[in-house]
Amino acid sequence: MTHARTSPDVEEQPRKRSAVLAEAVAEWPHAFVLLDAARRSVLAFNPRFAALMGLTPQRAGELHGAGVDALGEACASALAEPAALAAALDGERAVGRVELRDGGLLEVSAHRIQCGWLVLLEEATARLRAEDERRTVERRMRELERLEGLGALAGGIAHEFNNLLTAMMGSAELVLDQLAADDARRRQLERILDAGARAARLCEEMIASAGPGAFEVRRLHLSDLVHHTLRLLQPSTPARVRVEERLTPELPATAGDAAQLRRVLESVFLNACEALEARGGLVRVATGVSRMPARQLESLYFASGAPAGDYVWFEVSDDGLGMDAATQARMFDPFFSTKFAGRGLGLSSVARIVRGHKGAVEVESGPGRGTRVRVLVPVCE
Ligand SMILES: Nc1ncnc2c1ncn2[C@@H]1O[C@H](COP(=O)(O)OP(=O)(O)O)[C@@H](O)[C@H]1O
Ligand SMILES: [Mg+2]
Repeated sequence: MTHARTSPDVEEQPRKRSAVLAEAVAEWPHAFVLLDAARRSVLAFNPRFAALMGLTPQRAGELHGAGVDALGEACASALAEPAALAAALDGERAVGRVELRDGGLLEVSAHRIQCGWLVLLEEATARLRAEDERRTVERRMRELERLEGLGALAGGIAHEFNNLLTAMMGSAELVLDQLAADDARRRQLERILDAGARAARLCEEMIASAGPGAFEVRRLHLSDLVHHTLRLLQPSTPARVRVEERLTPELPATAGDAAQLRRVLESVFLNACEALEARGGLVRVATGVSRMPARQLESLYFASGAPAGDYVWFEVSDDGLGMDAATQARMFDPFFSTKFAGRGLGLSSVARIVRGHKGAVEVESGPGRGTRVRVLVPVCE
């Protein structure tokens, strides 16, 4: 009797346990795939995996026991990059990721178990995206620090050099004063002074592009500022370059340092002329006002943390050479120039001034497509 009663129980228990396990596998919220020890064939996968990959129950049934490649092919339509699944299953990396066509991200980890490999595919879209974003921000911060370091170094050298130049030029002027008007040595001294003056200008530019600088902030009207600056620039505009002004009257006022903003326009405008100089062409200068939502600001230079709102802007477009992506990535670096040595400070000053005004720069350019540079500064309340 006792024997008869216990016997079905003993047999029943493992069956129950495997039913419970089967249910756990069926309901398991994360996808997994079981592979053989060589990671060549698929021993099993759970319904969650089949659902994620859009496999019909029939197709899923066929794939149990199939090769890893066949599984990869069957899942291709659900994957952003079909080869990534095979690579992840192949365990080239202990942890990898697979992107779904709908934008979802799965984190893949492979675990050695007795019968082979258990590969888990966990949905981790939000976490992985946040990690990506953090990495991007960190990279940008490092880039910014590098630029600021370079700028500070350049500024420090320029200061020292400027002091030395003052001593050199002062002495040369004293000697020049002592020479008779018809002394042949005057010409040599004048050449020294001329070169010295050019070096001093370069120093000034370097100091301006490096230091935090003191801004003299006043209310100002951007269209007026642009119009006057363009008039001052007329003599240095190459003859083959035509300038077209499209200024919006009655723009809202902005708060800024007029002299500094003029420098910004000068740099951007001269770059446009230089991009055209060889064959000539058209430079368009426009002003306007735009409402900038935070998302749109994000894609601009120097706008990190800039508040959404109204910005007045000026914009210089040329139909010159344009820039490739590599040039665009470095255009604001101090001393970066595709022209000649000793150049490349124009846009690094622009960067400093725009940051000082809590503004932003938008650049649109491509090889042979010309360049459009828009400088935005916030409207004042
Ligand atoms: N409008 C433009 N068209 C083509 N390239 C440009 C333009 N503006 C800037 N660049 C690129 O950015 C570089 C850096 O500009 P900038 O800092 O003003 O230095 P520089 O003009 O002295 O070379 C230029 O050498 C050029 O390669
Ligand atoms: Mg320049």
